[in-house]
Amino acid sequence: MEKIIEENKQGTSLALEQNKANAKKLFIESYGCQMNFSDSEVVASILANQGYNTTQNLEEADLVLVNTCSIRDKAEQTVRKRLEAFNAVKKINPTMKVGVLGCMAERLKSKFLEEEKIVDMVVGPDAYKDIPNLLQEIDEGRDAINVILSKDETYGDISPVRLNSNGVTAFVTITRGCDNMCTFCVVPFTRGRERSREPQSIMQEVQDLWEKGFKEVTLLGQNVDSYLWYGGGLKKDFVKATEMQKATAVDFAQLLEMCAVNFPKMRFRFSTSNPQDMHEEVLHVIAKYHNVCKYIHLPVQSGSTRILKEMNRQHTREEYMELVDKIRRIIPDCSISQDIITGFPTETEEDHKDTLTLMEYAQYDFGFMFAYSERPGTLAARKMADDIPDEVKKRRLQEVIDLQQAMALKRTQRFVGQTVEVLIEKESKKSDLHWSGRNSQNTTVVFPKEGYKAGDYVLVHVTDCTTTTLIGEAVGYSEMQS
Ligand code: 5AD
Ligand code: SF4
Repeated sequence: MEKIIEENKQGTSLALEQNKANAKKLFIESYGCQMNFSDSEVVASILANQGYNTTQNLEEADLVLVNTCSIRDKAEQTVRKRLEAFNAVKKINPTMKVGVLGCMAERLKSKFLEEEKIVDMVVGPDAYKDIPNLLQEIDEGRDAINVILSKDETYGDISPVRLNSNGVTAFVTITRGCDNMCTFCVVPFTRGRERSREPQSIMQEVQDLWEKGFKEVTLLGQNVDSYLWYGGGLKKDFVKATEMQKATAVDFAQLLEMCAVNFPKMRFRFSTSNPQDMHEEVLHVIAKYHNVCKYIHLPVQSGSTRILKEMNRQHTREEYMELVDKIRRIIPDCSISQDIITGFPTETEEDHKDTLTLMEYAQYDFGFMFAYSERPGTLAARKMADDIPDEVKKRRLQEVIDLQQAMALKRTQRFVGQTVEVLIEKESKKSDLHWSGRNSQNTTVVFPKEGYKAGDYVLVHVTDCTTTTLIGEAVGYSEMQS
């Protein structure tokens, strides 16, 4: 499952480069997971070809698009408030068009146009190429909606327009959709079946990024370890592939290795991994290549085998622990992060304690923790009562967060006194005299700028830390600096 940046985080996006010939203005805002932010770059690219440049000024926009998240109720409420704000601007500027993209568009479909009448256009995650036609339909006074989910759309042929970019790090989508059907999750309904993108188009996108000066790529998907290219089509149809297709298929370990070998001075990360699909070969590729970052986002959701079963997760507590052991054995300096849900239906204090003890076992570096939010249409919503009171969900959530924070501090402290390799991304938020970047393990590192610049690989001697940040001084360029 993808990593949520922050429940309410919004990104009002400006493109890295604007086309001077474009006269129309697009205001595009994204919520939710990194995949949505990445999809908005595909949409900006499609619209750049239709005469639109991006703007961060809502008042001057000809077209306002909001890329939405349905993962929890709170995420949807945030989007609703934004739609009200857009409609207030629309009253002053009636020619402005408003469109909803992404998971909420897929989940609520024509309801947006029929009952709520608050938007002009509704576009699901697989229908972005249809946006030019849909804009035409609005002009002709028709309802503009396309929420058809696709078997093979990966947008592999679209070169994304980088939005809000630091020019150093970028995301490249490698799979879309999810076949896992975790019972709490709305994603399989909003993003459809799992399909993988053709490896050559992934390599081409990485090459373009390299030529533009980017130094780090995160390979993105709901479930990257399940990546499988065999000539197109759904993952579930691989059983019907020809012998030739099977023989030439590319899995995630192979894709990651292709990236590492072809772009030795580019760093690679990936997100998100699913415990049941994370095979040993991937761990060996991470261990073998210096430019594959030593960091795995490995959502667990719960530490209780009984709850994991109710969630339809395909692993037990013990299997997850074995995987953590394996990671630590093959990649000793790897950092691991989690997603955890508290208060899933029927969760007892005993189950909750299992989550806390599993966390201690795994010694996570980071975590993304949530109270269970019932999502309409999911199996859990249909079959199970949302029976854990809000205050219990929240108390358990707080206990999980407190434990994570204590562990994070310990994990960060391990770097103090060491020299770590950092890719400089941007100026530190707190001081314009300092750079900010990350080490391979994904921990933020801050240090005085001296003569270095964004995009440089430097060695930083760490002298101090907070829960989330390492503080140090650069001692020279690393071997990754070309
Ligand atoms: N309620 C709370 N958290 C959820 N997640 C997914 N669905 C729900 C839900 N219904 C969390 C999972 C997932 C992360 C991205 O969001 O932990 O891994
Ligand atoms: Fe992630 Fe499970 Fe949702 Fe798929 S169904 S996106 S694996 S949480």
